[in-house]
Amino acid sequence: MDKISVLISKEALETRIQEMADKLNQDYAGQELHLIGILKGSVFFVCELAKRLTMPVTMDFMSVSSYGTGTESCGRVKIVMDLAEPIQGRNVVMVEDIIDSGNTLSYLLPVLTSRRPSSIRLITLLSKPDRRKKDVKIDDIGFVIPDAFVVGFGLDYAQKYRNLPYIGIVEEQKGEKDE
Ligand code: IMP
Ligand code: MG
Repeated sequence: MDKISVLISKEALETRIQEMADKLNQDYAGQELHLIGILKGSVFFVCELAKRLTMPVTMDFMSVSSYGTGTESCGRVKIVMDLAEPIQGRNVVMVEDIIDSGNTLSYLLPVLTSRRPSSIRLITLLSKPDRRKKDVKIDDIGFVIPDAFVVGFGLDYAQKYRNLPYIGIVEEQKGEKDE
């Protein structure tokens, strides 16, 4: 068992997610919203967020993989599972667990924009700005965190710890990151 220390508590996550939902409720009042979650990491966040939205909401998911070694991803991103539905003419909000190097989203945003949604926004629960390699325009960030490998609330370490109800830091880290 790895040693994990709490970085962001369950209560702090809930408070912040409510604030992020309130913002969307305000900005998209009277409109429909289409949430796109990037599997698997954003699943917990997208569900908690969706439960707090008051407009008509639809949801879709996609799965991507980025190639690289260790905890570095590189610029090459592949869509492993694409969206089930077209997004043309919809108000899309892409929901990410964490923006690290920025490689994944700097690839995905133009791909989805080219499908002509009526609007597209990117929100992320966590951001590690110190690790950014590609500039990504993020519309809302839950928490800015330091350069540390984190788990929980959807984020994994070798596929484990996604189920933790808080965000924690793995003290002894010797593995690969996973989507
Ligand atoms: P990117 O480097 O911004 O392309 O991030 C790619 C993906 O790496 C994220 O969506 C996460 O799934 C994963 N990732 C990045 N940092 C962490 C971390 O600290 N813990 C767990 N997964 C991470
Ligand atoms: Mg992810």
